Amino acid sequence: MAHTATSAKSVSQAVEFLRHVCKEVPIAAVVLGSGVKVLEELTEQQSFSFDQVFGISPTIVGHAGSLTIGRVDGKLVAVLRGRFHLYEGHAWDVVTLPARVVVEWGVPNFYLTNAAGGLNHSFAIGDLMLITGVRDHLNPSLRETGLLPALSAPALDCENDLTRHLWLVGEKLAASDGSFRPLRRGVYAGLIGPSYETHAEIEMLRRLSADTVGMSTVPELVAASGTATQVAGVSVVTNVWTDEAIDGHEEVLKAARAASLRLDKLFRAAITNLKS
Ligand code: HPA
Repeated sequence: MAHTATSAKSVSQAVEFLRHVCKEVPIAAVVLGSGVKVLEELTEQQSFSFDQVFGISPTIVGHAGSLTIGRVDGKLVAVLRGRFHLYEGHAWDVVTLPARVVVEWGVPNFYLTNAAGGLNHSFAIGDLMLITGVRDHLNPSLRETGLLPALSAPALDCENDLTRHLWLVGEKLAASDGSFRPLRRGVYAGLIGPSYETHAEIEMLRRLSADTVGMSTVPELVAASGTATQVAGVSVVTNVWTDEAIDGHEEVLKAARAASLRLDKLFRAAITNLKS
């Protein structure tokens, strides 16, 4: 609970800062979840801390929080490393601040990523899942149970051109590149956390036809939905909830690295092909 909304900048203050340091509006913004290492090298790159941009920093270890502006194949992008979570004690307004800034800045394409647990029995560690699932039954009334107001139609529009574009780019990569595992698609369940799910909760989420589970992304999806900014989400499956013992630590790290390499290819190809 280190930060309250009062220390954070307003959306317009943050946008003013960004317009001051960068004369051009990026064609895309990307939020990178924990351990997701992609778009590391951009050309004409300039970086700012979350404190400089938003007036606050994330509180969790390993999430310094930075916003880098640079180019991928000539296209200007903003890469946000880290985010604010509800489990850190941040208010909804703080958690959604970066997303609202991206929207107000006028960025047309917004990619959200997260590290997530795989619930779908066919998912493997290292899989990338496009968030396409919108389910009525994961509805806001479940907020009371600790489930975020997640994936409730029609408030969220995951089935948009940006998501379809990302899917097609993934299909092309899978067809042309032997090391590119085909994308999965499905429903992401957002929980407040901070603890991982119990077995009973896992079973409940599966019955709600959720395919991945994590503690982020939903607030940002909600904040950007219905605006001029199109949003697409990708889960990186970092663990799977099975009855069997999970793979050794080394294997998990290897899978995470391989997933980041694939995600990097996916984003570079997608951004290169963005028209506007
Ligand atoms: N549950 C919740 N959040 C997560 C998980 C998980 O299994 N894996 C990564 N983030």
